[in-house]
Amino acid sequence: MARTLISGGTVVSATGRTTGDVLIDGETVAAIFAPGQAESLGVTADRVIDATGKYVVPGGIDVHTHMELPFGGTNASDTFETGTIAAAWGGVTTIVDFAVQKTGENVHESLAAWHEKAAGNCAIDYGFHQIIGGVDEDSLKAMTYLVDNEGVTSFKLFMAYPGVFYADDGQILRAMQNASETGAMIMMHAENGIAIDVLVAQALARGETDPYFHSLTRPAELEGEATHRAIQLAKVAGNVPLYIVHMSASEALEEVAAAQHAGMNVFAETCPQYLYLSLEDQLMQPGFEGAKWVCSTPLRTKHAHHHRDLWKGLRMNELAVVSTDHCPFCMKDQKELGLGNFSAIPNGIGGVEHRMELLYQGVVNGEITLERWVETCSTTPARMFGLDRKGAIAPGMDADILVWDPTKRTKIGVNDKHHMNMDHSAYEGFEIDGKVDTVLSRGTVVVENDTFTGSVGHGRYVKRGLSTYLH
Ligand code: URP
Ligand code: ZN
Ligand code: ZN
Repeated sequence: MARTLISGGTVVSATGRTTGDVLIDGETVAAIFAPGQAESLGVTADRVIDATGKYVVPGGIDVHTHMELPFGGTNASDTFETGTIAAAWGGVTTIVDFAVQKTGENVHESLAAWHEKAAGNCAIDYGFHQIIGGVDEDSLKAMTYLVDNEGVTSFKLFMAYPGVFYADDGQILRAMQNASETGAMIMMHAENGIAIDVLVAQALARGETDPYFHSLTRPAELEGEATHRAIQLAKVAGNVPLYIVHMSASEALEEVAAAQHAGMNVFAETCPQYLYLSLEDQLMQPGFEGAKWVCSTPLRTKHAHHHRDLWKGLRMNELAVVSTDHCPFCMKDQKELGLGNFSAIPNGIGGVEHRMELLYQGVVNGEITLERWVETCSTTPARMFGLDRKGAIAPGMDADILVWDPTKRTKIGVNDKHHMNMDHSAYEGFEIDGKVDTVLSRGTVVVENDTFTGSVGHGRYVKRGLSTYLH
């Protein structure tokens, strides 16, 4: 088995940093040596990667992606192949995507369909959550089976999108009771979809059709309300582990923080778009441009304190994880479905390539520490979703490693660094301090010297255990 030594870098974990050499034997980390120790022990390697002046961190783990998602009358534009290659370019070595069961569909068949899309097509490792879009006796039984047999230990439910994925409170309670028995995690899209649909219909009737009405018809209060309701239902279901996805609003964060202080097993994630982008600067761009940033939960006004509060939540661990909710759609033929009617714009933003970069900028800006960057983008996602061999550089762990160069810069844009299958970038023109240098997936170099050196099919399905926060 080939041995690789990553030498002279600053090895950063969720709890600290140290200068040292990382020895990889085959697919796993074999040892971390203090400076000079590998030399004095006569350690040899087939390959040495010089990481002097660079950070050596666990590969990014993005636990919220939607490759090929059928949604809004079209399919998310990244396949597992294009999406995982783009992820690798961004220092990401594992994704957890969502298999989708819609009302009336069979959960097992939907999971099998997702395996078919991904198997043999991924450049990095991948796992699955299961969307339960139709809670009934069969899907409840399937939830138990997936936890026990398939390595799928988390289930996403929707309080939004009536007629598509929406579950009512009774259905949510039943799914939560099931998860309470198996130890699975309930992931919640917390927006009051019934109330939102009323506001959408009223706006369209007034002739308010531009993309930015997407945000105005999904007010922060309805994210806060749904978050509160999800938490109460989780309490009734025996304090089931609850994870609020793609949080964008201070109102929702307050609910999560209060529940955590009250001792509940409530966790939350946010995404780069909610930390950097806004209603005014993106969604309200002239004409139909704002469609690029139509996603749910929506981008919020910059005149409230959502950005500030979300960064604070990340520092305080009220927000445990940063994911991307990568759900790319091209403007041409896809976002354009909503010309003249914002509610027909497919919801989603692509960003799987840029999360590590955008969050590192948070380190440079003084919002989070280097260790917190590693923790929220890799270590906690792994622990939260039972990826036992991922998220840390330690002997025995998978050698999923990102070598990060803090002295360089990254320009984001379709003509710059852009490998996602999209005809635009949600972060066009952003310039970030730092740069992805080298990426290893289970010991194989997949990105180096600004070149993708990996291979499609290298990525393996990872069966996940229960969240190690609670089990
Ligand atoms: O706008 C979004 N978030 N699209 C993907 C589906 C979802 O709700 O996560
Ligand atoms: Zn969602
Ligand atoms: Zn999503």
